[in-house]
Amino acid sequence: MKFGYFDDERSEYVITTPRTPLPWINYLGSEDLFALCSNTAGGYSFYRDARLRRITRYRYNNSPLDSDGFHVYIRDGDTVWNPGWQPVQTEPDFYRCRHGLGYTVIEGKKNGVAVRQELFVPKGDNCLLMRVRVSNEGADEKALKVFPYVEFCLWDAMDDSSNFQRNFSTGEVEIDGAAIYHKTEYRERRNHYAVFWADRQPDGFDTSREAFMGVYGGPARPEAVFSGGCTGSVAHGWQPVAAQQFNLTLAPGAAEELIFGLGYIENPQDEKWEALGVINKTRAKAMMARYADGAAFDAALRTLSEHWKGLLSSYRASTGDEKLDRMVNVWNQYQCMVTFNMSRSASYFESGMGRGMGFRDSCQDLLGFVHMIPERARERILDIAATQFPDGSAYHQYQPLTKKGNLDVGSGFNDDPLWLIAGTCAYIAETGDFGILDELVPFDNDESLAEPLLEHLRRSFNYTRTHLGPHGLPLTGRADWNDCLNLNCFSEHPGESFQITGPSEGPVAESVFIAGMFVKYGSVWARLCRALGREEEAADAERSVEKMTAVTLDAGWDGEWFRRAYDAFGHVVGGKECEEGQIFIEPQGMCVMAGIGKEDGRAELALKSVRERLDTEYGIVLQQPPYRRYHLELGEISSYPPGYKENAGIFCHNNPWIVCAEAELGHGDRAFEVYRRTCPAYLEDISEIHRTEPYVYSQMVAGKDAPTFGEAKNSWLTGTAAWTFVSVSQAILGIKPELEGLRIDPCVPSDLKSFTVTRRWRGAVYVITVSDPEGRQKGVRELIVDGERLEGNVIPARPEGSVVKVTAVLG
Ligand code: BGC
Repeated sequence: MKFGYFDDERSEYVITTPRTPLPWINYLGSEDLFALCSNTAGGYSFYRDARLRRITRYRYNNSPLDSDGFHVYIRDGDTVWNPGWQPVQTEPDFYRCRHGLGYTVIEGKKNGVAVRQELFVPKGDNCLLMRVRVSNEGADEKALKVFPYVEFCLWDAMDDSSNFQRNFSTGEVEIDGAAIYHKTEYRERRNHYAVFWADRQPDGFDTSREAFMGVYGGPARPEAVFSGGCTGSVAHGWQPVAAQQFNLTLAPGAAEELIFGLGYIENPQDEKWEALGVINKTRAKAMMARYADGAAFDAALRTLSEHWKGLLSSYRASTGDEKLDRMVNVWNQYQCMVTFNMSRSASYFESGMGRGMGFRDSCQDLLGFVHMIPERARERILDIAATQFPDGSAYHQYQPLTKKGNLDVGSGFNDDPLWLIAGTCAYIAETGDFGILDELVPFDNDESLAEPLLEHLRRSFNYTRTHLGPHGLPLTGRADWNDCLNLNCFSEHPGESFQITGPSEGPVAESVFIAGMFVKYGSVWARLCRALGREEEAADAERSVEKMTAVTLDAGWDGEWFRRAYDAFGHVVGGKECEEGQIFIEPQGMCVMAGIGKEDGRAELALKSVRERLDTEYGIVLQQPPYRRYHLELGEISSYPPGYKENAGIFCHNNPWIVCAEAELGHGDRAFEVYRRTCPAYLEDISEIHRTEPYVYSQMVAGKDAPTFGEAKNSWLTGTAAWTFVSVSQAILGIKPELEGLRIDPCVPSDLKSFTVTRRWRGAVYVITVSDPEGRQKGVRELIVDGERLEGNVIPARPEGSVVKVTAVLG
């Protein structure tokens, strides 16, 4: 069942009922101020850090899930309704929500009144803008009351949701004409405030939640809206809000537009006050003046749309499959940008209060956005590298505000170092900027320990090859990519963190997955050394890679697939002898991507085992059979009920590894089949089962062992976005930026006879047409670049500004 449709022309997903299976959201903002906005105008907003600078509230653990947001109440006689249906839930006569690139438009109609609510965050400014157009489409004059409403968070979201004994006494506001200023704690150590404003004087306002909602009222039944109107309350402590009332009288056919803003302002210390206790509003007023009318609003919206057009123009495919095109050209890339902005911090599944930026997560996210914003990727790499320890290992996460590593989830995740090589080399492949390797970057954020970035990569590589276990495989440390396989943890007490309990190092537990990574990214490291003229270092790296390949094919091979690990007792994890957890997806994907076993058929066999043992109609499950009891020696993975998360859920992040692996072996049909099964646009028809947004990837889909097989969770903030983009743009459609040039190496389904990709790369534009007349799926038979035949399939970079015409024939 569908709950909307794609409008490809406008790059929008159009939702036609407010009763989506879950709130279907969008992200507004692309710089510092962000808001999440659901299809019913629920959501929350923050400045840069979702925990420490929360502007508006969200109620956690709440049901329904979508409380608080950017709601507008309409009172029309005795009828109270919202254009987005929530929170009053009066049945609208018409409803539509358009989620577009950085904006959302919600339209509702009731009893002849049409309301359109448009929301976005303009480029270059720290505010959320909202335009509400109210029109009378009926035959009689309408006397309406319109109430916009937001509820402020007292800045630190964690404290706001727990420390009531203090917070109920600190809230402060100021009211100045059409603006309501939220200035809690501004009197002391904060130099920032929020402001909610309207473009005209309201007929009433409230700033105390209790006054607007009623002590026992709530968003579904605000007392002020249902009874006499706003009360002019001034919040002292308790819960400050911004509510306003506008009385509109509309003749038949008449319409009015109101523009609102929710801004965040910082003042320098010596410019905080206008008078004792009165905040300096100069910057806020300048902000309001910038959006004083509909023309300014429209202009800002146009700028935003140009911004997105520019970003998405780096990779455009035309394949004849509309679902594929819309995912590749719009939604997958859009989601990659959201992961750039949010990492794993704020979604409807991430509270914005916990996780900072992950070392491995951020390096992988980079693979999906580096082509759109290479200069920001550069900054990101340097930030991440600065949190690396001198021995090459890393803090597992760092704070976006301070850019410092933190030990909240510890360190010693032994895959982390190698992801830095992956991210940095992807950046250099994209840009040709080898100069980044000369940048001086601190270790552990200590400037006195700064070394060129190249040295950071070297230490990443060396860390792995010097931390080997009894079989010669890399030690796993706290965990590798699979955070839930905690082989050195042994947690027996409820509430202990699986990530930081137990020793960070164990001398025995080994990871075949990291071995695969070492072969894959160690080879990339060797190529980098060679490109830099460091022949000896390259050869040395290659020797280590060869050795690791041999060890993987020995201790890492189970007969029909790659093993997963060895636990702290040296027992196999992910092998035939295991009662549960016999085969895992991760090492099959990573090892085959690395080319291990390609020559002797073992790679083929491993992927065959994946197909036979892990495939389901909704994607490939992470492992089989699921753990049905808690395994002390394996940790969190066995804490999930069968079929969920890492315990045999369909973990969407590593499905694209299989896509890449299948493409590596030339299986275009199978690669595409795996791609399609988890791709949201192809799942739109089963939205009642899948439940999350059909325009973005989710982290997980319940596996076949779960009672809710097919149900997705944790949409938006997942490494799935980056990896599926890599898999479809580089492995399937086959346009691969490499250190040496742009490799054209598609591996397509046999019924895709031709397609075109327009790729911006290193300042030039490549228009690449690929045909596969005989359905061979892989192998470039002929490559013509600007009319000339090229040997091989790697195009050396052309001068900036050129438009390069490329034709490739497979066969
Ligand atoms: C985490 C990743 C991890 C993955 C698998 C995600 O939730 O963000 O860091 O690799 O789960 O456990």
